[in-house]
Amino acid sequence: MNRRNFVWTGCAALTAQRVRAESEAAAIVLVAGKRWVTVAGRSVELLTYNGQLPGPQLELRPGQDVTIRLINDLPEPTNLHFHGLHLPPSPGVDDALLQIPPGEQHEYRFTLPADHPAGTFWYHPHVHGMTANQVGGGLAGAIIVRAEFEERLELTRVPERVLILQDFDLLADGTLARPTQMDRMIGREGALITVSGEVVPNLPVSASGVARLRFINACSSRFFNLALGKQALVVIGVDGGLIAAPNAARSTLLAPGERIDTIVSGAALAEGPDLLWNLSYQRTFAMMGGMMGGQRQAAGNAVIAHIIPTAGEGAGWTMPTKLADVSPLPAAARLRTFVLGEGTGRMGMGMGSQQAMAFTINGRTFDMRRVDTDVRLGTVEDWEFVNNTSMDHPMHIHTNAFQVIGSNGSPLPAWKDTVLVKAGQRVRVRTRFDDFTGLAVYHCHILDHEDMGMMGTLRITN
Ligand code: C2O
Ligand code: CU
Ligand code: CU
Repeated sequence: MNRRNFVWTGCAALTAQRVRAESEAAAIVLVAGKRWVTVAGRSVELLTYNGQLPGPQLELRPGQDVTIRLINDLPEPTNLHFHGLHLPPSPGVDDALLQIPPGEQHEYRFTLPADHPAGTFWYHPHVHGMTANQVGGGLAGAIIVRAEFEERLELTRVPERVLILQDFDLLADGTLARPTQMDRMIGREGALITVSGEVVPNLPVSASGVARLRFINACSSRFFNLALGKQALVVIGVDGGLIAAPNAARSTLLAPGERIDTIVSGAALAEGPDLLWNLSYQRTFAMMGGMMGGQRQAAGNAVIAHIIPTAGEGAGWTMPTKLADVSPLPAAARLRTFVLGEGTGRMGMGMGSQQAMAFTINGRTFDMRRVDTDVRLGTVEDWEFVNNTSMDHPMHIHTNAFQVIGSNGSPLPAWKDTVLVKAGQRVRVRTRFDDFTGLAVYHCHILDHEDMGMMGTLRITN
């Protein structure tokens, strides 16, 4: 069953219909609250938008005026972040520092830039210290930006599914477990894995055609190492939209916050259904795992969906050899280094502050009153993330996408906003601070790490 929910108003262009340049306004209401929902026949109490898991899917087009009223029915502050969208990080817009108190509401208003790339984005809460609980409790939804050029590739003819990957740690009574200090340190994971609200769903693909699967890793901490049993996973897009050329991979790692856009072929299903696997992957050093009791060791391969052949539309589409124009960013004006660390620090403020496990960037835990990185609008910079810790950290930057610098020193032809920095490794990305001034953040997207300090502020000024 397809659980897509379209709550935006005013437009019905979904498939072959022509996407118009001039667009109607979208008006959306999201109520964040704890609700009982049914997952795979079981009653569970999760955090939801509008009582749905995942939250409603928002369909947006470049140039569109968007209004999102967020009503906070949670017993604690919340807010919204539009992960990956190129929007002003200004007060009340894409404002990770805003807090909407319980029982109150906020109206987010923005115009998606007219040249905004098409792609798979998502929204989720972003209150420092509560992000892992809220996102890990279920608060997440997809934002699909559609633009005209995908029509030239005839991608609009290809049936698609948006697959939001979530995991939940539940008690026997169906309520969310409280993570232990150790869970938070490693990054909580839950045994219940849902794929757009379903457990091991059937994903139909026309036996004579193809389907487009867009994956969003909306887990607090769980990584996915995605693979199909009978065919390569053909990646056509990543975080910030389509990539330059399709890339067939045996398996693809998807860290929290990351997205991939893929094409699955029905031809491989001639002999029967295929399996979508989450292959085992270890995101901490073995020693670390041992120290921590080893419960987060590679858990073995698991099936997370079945790919089922069906009769139906989709025949005749051939994979283009060229997808999007991703022009490399020009050389950077400066290089900054961000050293990721684990240690202890003072968490909390004043009387309530205590010595606790902390995660740091350049030796400091997050403080919203401090500006960590000051940049000028329009400049290009290289940022190098240096991971000397024993855990992988997927690093995310708000507001502007980046290009990862490849091993040959040039930027790879793909727009990313979250990049995996494996334990003991360093990764360099190139970004340009375009269009918007304001105060943004960058952080580890293992949300327990973000909550425990692995976040910094980025001030973009004229
Ligand atoms: Cu997906 Cu700062 O977050
Ligand atoms: Cu983000
Ligand atoms: Cu981390």
